[in-house]
Amino acid sequence: MGDLTVTRFGYGAMQLAGPWAMGPPADRDGALAVLREAVALGITHIDTADAYGPELTNRLIRDALAPYPDALHIVTKVGANRDAQGGWPPAREPDQLREAVHANLRHLGLDVLDLVNLRLGDAEGPVPGSLARAFEALAELQQQGLIRHLGVSNATPEQVAEAQSIAPIVCVQNLYNLAHRHDDALIDTLAGQGIAYVPFFPLGGFSPLQSETLDAVAARLDATPKSVALAWLLQRSPNVLLIPGTSSVTHLRENVAGAGLALSAQDLGQLESIGR
Ligand SMILES: NC(=O)c1ccc[n+]([C@@H]2O[C@H](COP(=O)([O-])OP(=O)(O)OC[C@H]3O[C@@H](n4cnc5c(N)ncnc54)[C@H](OP(=O)(O)O)[C@@H]3O)[C@@H](O)[C@H]2O)c1
Repeated sequence: MGDLTVTRFGYGAMQLAGPWAMGPPADRDGALAVLREAVALGITHIDTADAYGPELTNRLIRDALAPYPDALHIVTKVGANRDAQGGWPPAREPDQLREAVHANLRHLGLDVLDLVNLRLGDAEGPVPGSLARAFEALAELQQQGLIRHLGVSNATPEQVAEAQSIAPIVCVQNLYNLAHRHDDALIDTLAGQGIAYVPFFPLGGFSPLQSETLDAVAARLDATPKSVALAWLLQRSPNVLLIPGTSSVTHLRENVAGAGLALSAQDLGQLESIGR
C-alpha cells in the first residue's frame, strides 16, 4: 500500500472489544494474546479504529504491541463515532476528523499514522454524495505529516474516483466476500491502478457466511468453510488484502493456515455461483 509493504494476510481488530464492538473484551488477557500472536505469526497489517470499544481497541493494541516492530503497519479509520446505543453516527466535519486523527495518534501511541481510511456511508453500506470537504481535511493532515497514506472505506466507485481527484489513495476498504460481490468491477479497476482492495466482513462479519455450496467445497477439500472463503478472496485478485477478525488465538492460527489453501478451477467455478 503506497510505500508500505504488508503481508496479504492481515488482522482486523474490531472483534476484540465487547459485543458489537462496544465495551471491554470479556477476556482482556486473551485479547492481548491474539494481538501478540498475530505479530508472532508474521502478520504486518492490523486494521483498527477508535470507534471500536470505543477507544478501547486502540489502547489494547498499544498495550499489547508498543513499541511496535518496524515492519508492523497499523491502519485506522475515521469518520464515525459511537453513540450510547452502539450506533455509528457520522463524524466527518473537518474539525471532527482533525480531532479523530489526533485521538488515534494518542491512543495508539504513534507520532504518525501509516494509513487512515475515511469511513463513509452508514451501517447499511455506502451512501452516494461528495466526500470532498472531509477528504480535503484528511489530505491537509497528510500534508502536515500526521498521516502517511490515505484510503476510503464503505465508498461507492464514484467516491473512490472523487477521492483520487483530491489526493492519492492506496486502498479501498469495503464490504466484500463470497456472497457480496457488488464491488467486483471496482476490484478489477483498482488492481489495474495498483491500489489495494481490503474486504471487510470477509467471513460475513456479524452475519457469518452460510452456504451449502461453500460447505460442499470445504468438505471435498477436507478444509473448513472459513478457510475456503479466505483462500477464495486471496485468489480473487492480487490486490486483495485480508483483515479477518477474531477474538481467538485458535481461530487466528486456523485462518492463517487455511487461507493458503489452493483452490482448483473446479472449486472456483462452484464457489462463483454463491454470489450470483
Ligand atoms: N470499514 C468498515 O466500515 C468496517 C466494518 C466492519 C469491519 N471492518 C474491519 O474488518 C475486519 C473484519 O471484519 P469482522 O471482524 O467484523 O468480520 P469477519 O472477519 O468477517 O468475521 C469475524 C467473525 O468470524 C468469527 N471467526 C473468525 N475466524 C473463525 C474461525 N476460524 N472459526 C470460527 N469463527 C471464526 C469471529 O469469531 P471469533 O472471535 O469467535 O473467532 C468473528 O465473529 C474487522 O475486524 C474490522 O477491522 C471495517
